[in-house]
Amino acid sequence: MAFGDNGLRSSVAKGGQDVAPRRPSSLTSGETMPSELPGGGRLVVVSNRVTVASGEKAAQAGGLAVGLLAALRDVGGVWFGWSGEITPDAPGPLETQRSGPIEYVLTDVAEADFEGYYSNFANRTLWPLFHYRIDLATYDPDWYAAYRRVNRLFAERLAPLLQPNDVVWVHDYHLLPLAAELRRLGVQNLLSFYLHTPFPAPELFETLPWQAELGADLCRFDRVAFQTASDLRQFLAYAELELGGQVRPDGWVQIDGRWLHAAAIPIGIDADEFRRMAKQPEAVQERERLEQSLGGHRLIIGVDRLDYTKGIPERIKAFEALLESVDPVEANVSFIQISAPSRSDVPEYQNLRAEVEGLSGRINGRFGESDWVPLRYLNRSFSRTALAGMFELARIGLVTPLRDGMNLVAKEFVAAQDPADPGALVLSRFAGAADDLDGALIVNPYDVAQVAKAMAEGLSMPLDERQDRHARMLAKTRAQDIGEWWRRSLELMREEHPESTA
Ligand code: G6P
Repeated sequence: MAFGDNGLRSSVAKGGQDVAPRRPSSLTSGETMPSELPGGGRLVVVSNRVTVASGEKAAQAGGLAVGLLAALRDVGGVWFGWSGEITPDAPGPLETQRSGPIEYVLTDVAEADFEGYYSNFANRTLWPLFHYRIDLATYDPDWYAAYRRVNRLFAERLAPLLQPNDVVWVHDYHLLPLAAELRRLGVQNLLSFYLHTPFPAPELFETLPWQAELGADLCRFDRVAFQTASDLRQFLAYAELELGGQVRPDGWVQIDGRWLHAAAIPIGIDADEFRRMAKQPEAVQERERLEQSLGGHRLIIGVDRLDYTKGIPERIKAFEALLESVDPVEANVSFIQISAPSRSDVPEYQNLRAEVEGLSGRINGRFGESDWVPLRYLNRSFSRTALAGMFELARIGLVTPLRDGMNLVAKEFVAAQDPADPGALVLSRFAGAADDLDGALIVNPYDVAQVAKAMAEGLSMPLDERQDRHARMLAKTRAQDIGEWWRRSLELMREEHPESTA
């Protein structure tokens, strides 16, 4: 069935022209790139947030959206998800848009369920729980009920659109029970899941009152993939110990008479493309403007969504400790912290904002001079192109989350550097990216003194050491790029289960 039938609302992509089918540059060189889905069907991506591939939103898109766009541009297909609209009553008809090879199918969500589903259960229960912050997690049965209702709504609206060979690729913690809801409606397609956040230790996940149901429902997917080997281990331990699954060393799990294959597939970026972005006029302009304003001070930069998982207060305190430990004139640094507003309806995010604003004020009040502001805190977002320019200028990139699935900012920072005179990366050991970026100065973000020391080390690091560390990180970033993520995700979808290969 073609989308646009079935009473769907149809419109042209808002705010821009169609995007031509394009393979990411990293996919063009791969000789063995399989770009066919098992059974020759379509790729149907499902995620809560959807980025239409044109216009300003696409330019600001974060790593997740960029990755999904790359995959969909490679094989074409459908992207199904939330329209961004909330309706006072039951959601109206689906909205469809086409942009190049991608068909967008978007559903509104009823106001009565939205808060419970998104702001509450997804972002005040699962988000903190999956990031090891059960102190911030609230367990409320009404929130869980709304989360289930929206997952059911997604399933009911998606199921009639599926063709027999379509492969459904579901993303992130908003949609953990979607496979179970689709199965209840009789859907038999291959269902694959990717978790962009960490998967917590079983002892933490087991604190969730509905863990047994949610865990079993997650196992209704045929494929489940995680960012890191450690997330995969936690999931397999949980599936074995709590759900009674039979786990094989190759990642196949037999559970309730069915097979699912679990794997670790770290997400990446298109490193060469990001480096090119740093050379675009917008990036160069942003870089020059910033450079002029710094008046010769060396730049330390942090870029994150304003989220308590990112360790922003701890990072600012580490900068304060650095200023305490050196002569500020000799250190000759300025720190720019860019924190894009995020989930600002959620009280924990409002508290964080107040805390960061207070800390920034304290540091500038304490160390500032009439001609020098030590810390510039910007609570707004920038395009990826502008960021690429700022990263290139920076002497230190500070990526110090308390817990993070991957953290693509770390990889973007590496990609944007000039290999002849690169900056140093200070990276949290609790970011998935630390598994690969061993050329970074790896820190425990809770250890303020250690982070301050790493900044000082980065500032005084000799050129040859910076070059050597950067070359190692760039090689990894290019090898584990977004094309590789998609290639391995596709490979996982194509796997035959062990009984048919035995
Ligand atoms: C993280 C999550 C994504 C989410 C993004 C932005 O990266 O893994 O699923 O879309 O944050 O958060 P938001 O709540 O604005 O969608």
